[in-house]
Amino acid sequence: MVILSVTGRAPINIAVVKYWGKKDERLILPLNGSISGTLDLTHMCATTTVAISESFSEDQFWLNGLECSLSARFSIVLEAIKKRALENETIDREKLSWKIHICSKNNFPTAAGLASSAAGLACLVFCLARLYNIDGDVSGIARLGSGSACRSMYGGFVEWMVGECRDGRDSVAKQIIPANHWPNMAVLILVVNAGRKHTSSTSGMQTSVQTSRLLEHRAKLVVPDHIDLMRGALLQKDFQTFAQVTMKDSNSMHAVCMDTYPPIHYLTHVSHHIINLVHSINNYFRTCKVAYTFDAGPNACLYLLDDDLPTILSLIRYFYPKIQNVEEGGTDDDACRDGDVDEF
Ligand code: DP6
Repeated sequence: MVILSVTGRAPINIAVVKYWGKKDERLILPLNGSISGTLDLTHMCATTTVAISESFSEDQFWLNGLECSLSARFSIVLEAIKKRALENETIDREKLSWKIHICSKNNFPTAAGLASSAAGLACLVFCLARLYNIDGDVSGIARLGSGSACRSMYGGFVEWMVGECRDGRDSVAKQIIPANHWPNMAVLILVVNAGRKHTSSTSGMQTSVQTSRLLEHRAKLVVPDHIDLMRGALLQKDFQTFAQVTMKDSNSMHAVCMDTYPPIHYLTHVSHHIINLVHSINNYFRTCKVAYTFDAGPNACLYLLDDDLPTILSLIRYFYPKIQNVEEGGTDDDACRDGDVDEF
């Protein structure tokens, strides 16, 4: 029995200019461009093994040890990968008809607004591309699985281009800077709640597209400005602009969520406490030391520079005494110390 397999690992990415809203649901074409930082391969990753064999009777998928059904998006990704593989004339066509087994594991909470789908889909597409000997950029195929996944195909800071073609061929990810361009950039992830989010990004952004006028304004005017400023800040390693745009863009996305009807509340009182704490720290030092950003959940991602890690960490440990490392399960909704963060 012949089994061909590939194992890969892909990290999550944390958007600093957010994707929120599609202009094409099937092709996953975004209303606006976005930029994120891809984490390194140590902490928050998906590890996936993809295997094909003539002896497999059906496609099967296991996530974190449990068998799950394969989604419609998986079929779209697989079809796109096979189409691309056929562009290579030397491909063994018979192998393309073999059934596939996928086994994936996240070393962090799944579907808690921590970009688990981005890491998982990026990893799946990477492994499939290796399995079928596909060269070149496959971020457009990862995009078909989950929009933000296309950005996890590259390291460093990455832009997902909004694209102009109706078929989506130019809506792909491009690296702006590699990780070693700004090596002292650090990320702290504060897991406020590791449970599944109540509204998935996919359905949340659908409702926003249907009901929020603020989203039109954000996509047309706010984000293009943020993208320009962010690109410049990254190239010049300008942390002040980077931090301000990151926080403003997160606030803008969550304002759109509030403007959605019915409104979507991803942030909890702990998230708001963290926002206030960050602004108090930055005010106290009269410079931006740290920036927060929140995806479709209450968990905070903090960007900061290595030198400031000890100070910021000690303040976080003071205000959130029950905090644990992600591997130990994170913190919870009642974890913040009562009292006014302005007073620290
Ligand atoms: C808030 O990529 O998960 O994290 O394309 O429907 O799969 P789908 O959505 P997804 O949305 C991520 C939204 C976000 C912002 C971002 O990562 O840019």
